[in-house]
Amino acid sequence: MRYPRIIAHRCGGDLAMENSIAGLVATKQLGCRAVEFDVMLTADGVPVLMHDETLDRTTRCRGFVAEHTFDQIRACDARVPTLGEAVGESQRLGLWMNIELKPAAGHEEETGSVVGRWLARNWNGHGVISSFSEKSALAGRHALPQAPFALLCDALPADWRARMERLNAVAVHLDAQRVDAAAARQLGAAGIPWAAWTVNDAGTAERLFSLGAAAIFTDRPDLFR
Ligand code: G3P
Ligand code: MG
Repeated sequence: MRYPRIIAHRCGGDLAMENSIAGLVATKQLGCRAVEFDVMLTADGVPVLMHDETLDRTTRCRGFVAEHTFDQIRACDARVPTLGEAVGESQRLGLWMNIELKPAAGHEEETGSVVGRWLARNWNGHGVISSFSEKSALAGRHALPQAPFALLCDALPADWRARMERLNAVAVHLDAQRVDAAAARQLGAAGIPWAAWTVNDAGTAERLFSLGAAAIFTDRPDLFR
């Protein structure tokens, strides 16, 4: 699997509101070819782009995403896109996508399954799917037997090979602050591409690329043009 070197985090990082269509457009305008975004289910099962379990930080409402219907969330902030809108726009712009399944607690399997089934019908496969939740990732994998998946974790876990095998993953995504030379060596020796989040300065990016990173996720794609 070939990775684009620079991936705009949460659609466009600091270029626009996080996880928004405006971020996708700004990313493209900057000449960046790849985005990452987070997908969560509303109370009525609509996959939307949302990072936090609550609406508090990114909209003018309060409470849990999983306890609000899609219409209620759109009324909180009209800029919250559905997965369909985000994938449609990314495909129109020719962007590579890391679709991160971000289930609310208790909705792990359902999120993987609903999103996976939707992607199976509508996604062009240009990118990779990931989740911190193994349950979610495996449910997504069940619906998408052919799609590329990445193992997403903080530090490289001791059982990374077994986890990759269970998911049939082709890559690993790691916390940039937790990547050390030993982890990089193990992945490099196994020929596994890896990417690190979230890298917002050139020095850290250089360190990671010299360790063998295939890609970085950044809120500052403007720094890496
Ligand atoms: O998927 C990479 C990165 O986005 C994981 O962290 O919390 O920003 O979703 P977070
Ligand atoms: Mg994310």
